[in-house]
Amino acid sequence: MTFKDREIQELQEVALREIQAAQSAEDLERLRVKYLGRKGALTQILRGLGQLDPESRRRAGQEANAVKLALEEGLEQALKALKTAARLAAVPAVDVTLPGRRLPQGRLHPITQVNQEVCDIFLHLGFETVEGPEVELDYYNFEALNIPADHPARDMQDTFYFNEKVLLRTHTSPMQIRTMEKRRPPVRVIAPGRVYRRDSDLTHTPMFHQVEGLLVDKGVTFADLKGVLTAFVHQMFGPEVGVRFRPSYFPFTEPSAEVDIECVICRGEGCRVCKTTGWLEVLGSGMVHPAVFEAVGYDPEVYTGFAFGLGIERIAMLKYGIDDIRLFFENDLRFLRQF
Ligand code: DAH
Repeated sequence: MTFKDREIQELQEVALREIQAAQSAEDLERLRVKYLGRKGALTQILRGLGQLDPESRRRAGQEANAVKLALEEGLEQALKALKTAARLAAVPAVDVTLPGRRLPQGRLHPITQVNQEVCDIFLHLGFETVEGPEVELDYYNFEALNIPADHPARDMQDTFYFNEKVLLRTHTSPMQIRTMEKRRPPVRVIAPGRVYRRDSDLTHTPMFHQVEGLLVDKGVTFADLKGVLTAFVHQMFGPEVGVRFRPSYFPFTEPSAEVDIECVICRGEGCRVCKTTGWLEVLGSGMVHPAVFEAVGYDPEVYTGFAFGLGIERIAMLKYGIDDIRLFFENDLRFLRQF
């Protein structure tokens, strides 16, 4: 190997190493000019071949042409590689070891949850669920429940009327009448549903939810009412919570009682929520009034029964310590996600 041959080979090695290290198309262009350009290193060598003897010149010439091809090939490959790398860099990398993205999961509204909880408790006490219309007749909402047209009890509830006879039900009690019209005793039902009143403040909304209960049979007494409702309260709020039955008035029951539980906030000590009484009202109840039985053709001399009505929002507020009923209807996810 002549001196020239070695020089050409070394040039190839150095040039290819530099081509491989190039970081950009501009780098490669610079290298092309540096080695293959008109004043490039390889061109210089080729120019110098004239001084060699014919045999050496021929060999060196072949050698130099091979190197030229190799460098051209190297440049082309390197340019391709750079382009591929640039394309890959533009694609966001996928890290397959990352945990998957969770889809947002829906859940039941707290009012739905509490409603189901209430219905479940009565279901296990042997009550069957019935449902009826929210657009109701005056007859079922008032008349048949022993609330005649000029009865002062109509003022207890501010009613949305469509006309003189049709209204949005103000309570679920009309389901007592609708159920008894269709069935003969024994009757043991609950009726959950929406009710409407012209009322709006911290503890009232124009629409809210009630669950009505009705049990009719021969020989039903006030002791049965107390037993069933005490069992309900203890399942709903815990077996240690105190319960009391306070005499009250409803036109469709006689005698009537409101059921209070020991204040869940202060445990009976007296606080702002229970207005220092230590007790919270949770439902209304009573023995079905004979006039109601007469309206549906049940003989009040043969049958007795008890009824009750409770507000789902109120139960939910007490259970979760919520002081503004409107939170249930604003549907702020930060509020709803807590349940
Ligand atoms: N309907 C009454 C209300 O909305 C609640 C109620 C009280 C229902 C006593 C009853 C009952 O069945 O016996 O305020």
